[in-house]
Amino acid sequence: MPVLEGKELRIVGFLCNWCSYGGADSAGVARAAQPTDLRIIRVPCSGRVDPLFIVKALLNGADGVLVSGCHPRDCHYSAGNYYARRRLEVLKQFLPVLGIDDRRFEYTWVSASEAQRWQHVITTFTGRVHALGPAPRFGDSRPLLKVADMALSALRPLGTGKAAALDELKKAIKARLPELECVIGWQQGYDGAHTVPLFAKTPEDVDKLVWGPFNVNNPAVYLPSFKGKKVGIMVKGCDGRSVVEQLQENLINREDVVIFAMPCEGTLDMARVSEKLGRYTSIDAVSCDEAAVTVTADGKEHRFCMADFAQGKCYGCTAPLAATADASVGGPVSVNPGPYTPPELALLDSLSLPERMQFWSGQMERCLRCYACRNACPMCVCRDFCVSDSRDPHWMNQKDDEREKLFFQTIHALHLAGRCTGCGECQRACPVGIPILALRQQISRAVGQLFDGYKAGFDPAATPPLLTYAPEEKNIHERDWK
Ligand code: FES
Repeated sequence: MPVLEGKELRIVGFLCNWCSYGGADSAGVARAAQPTDLRIIRVPCSGRVDPLFIVKALLNGADGVLVSGCHPRDCHYSAGNYYARRRLEVLKQFLPVLGIDDRRFEYTWVSASEAQRWQHVITTFTGRVHALGPAPRFGDSRPLLKVADMALSALRPLGTGKAAALDELKKAIKARLPELECVIGWQQGYDGAHTVPLFAKTPEDVDKLVWGPFNVNNPAVYLPSFKGKKVGIMVKGCDGRSVVEQLQENLINREDVVIFAMPCEGTLDMARVSEKLGRYTSIDAVSCDEAAVTVTADGKEHRFCMADFAQGKCYGCTAPLAATADASVGGPVSVNPGPYTPPELALLDSLSLPERMQFWSGQMERCLRCYACRNACPMCVCRDFCVSDSRDPHWMNQKDDEREKLFFQTIHALHLAGRCTGCGECQRACPVGIPILALRQQISRAVGQLFDGYKAGFDPAATPPLLTYAPEEKNIHERDWK
């Protein structure tokens, strides 16, 4: 069989030691002609292939990546390939958001006795990659700066929470306070337009709690550090989902957490607020009516209507009141179930693959590598062992390099696959306003499409889809690949 003509491309193959590596070996022993573009990395099982291996290869110059393992039911570790199938399928649906053609990545199953199948797989995949040509290099992309259209209509009314029954909630908190180490919530910060976390231990502290559009932080980020101690937490709808996800993953114990909830009417996008305020010396006063906040800075009044200045995530929120709560004040809110595409994701959807790569190149140029996105994420719980800091294995260098920065963002997004509740803290905490939430949103969309509309943070008893598997997947058809 003729080897593909023309210049060789770089294809990386991750082959399971027990089946596909044997299959490739058998093809070689049988002298089956194969293209020579493949560089094989032998792994103990397809379940060992972390999606970040694939992204690293593709961002660093591979023109294609192939993963091949034992057929379902034949894995030598019983279920490695079942887990791999879910992870790899989510990755396949994620790659286009980075501007990488998903046809450059494939995964399949080849057993040790299937020399002919291996020959077919590698010839077909190499042919596909040759048809696509050399992969565009991330470093060659000219930055493209585009911003999402924030003229949005919300799925439910947005407001300032002026009429929220905060006193009633404080009463409920005070009643439970003696049994708690503290209650995590918000208090006013250095001026009326900023809040900071409050760890209330006394009734006087509870009186300092505030509620409204400036409660932007997600207090759930602190909960895992209190594991084993009984604490209370005051939550908006999105914070409540983070708590539920932490319960799902046993990061906290249900009996140790008392959840106090009120319906959220939206939070302000402080980046857009700051932009409108411009340079100012001090905030003199902040007042609210039902629909808007008025901020007086250096004697000048600025009115921020919630419908125009809310965070992007708030427009698409369909659960403003935490469903899992021990004390809940305020009734359920009626919402329009959608459909809804978040603004950052809608922007990326409108771009071509090369434009998406250019978009991320432009965004990553601005990244400071401060890791505020990671530190603000309530689901990013392995900070002490983060791959970005690890020297063994040394996954990332510390250069101010756009590709490395995008690689870190990709790792963070992939680690949140099926776990991200969309609280948007990563993006809010970013000091330079990079729309990194879009990466998590694309993964959440893929997870929803593959796993029956699954959304993270709604059911404390549910197992996140990437932490489990099904022997037959309803929406994954990897065996259809020829
Ligand atoms: Fe081959 Fe698990 S041992 S896929």
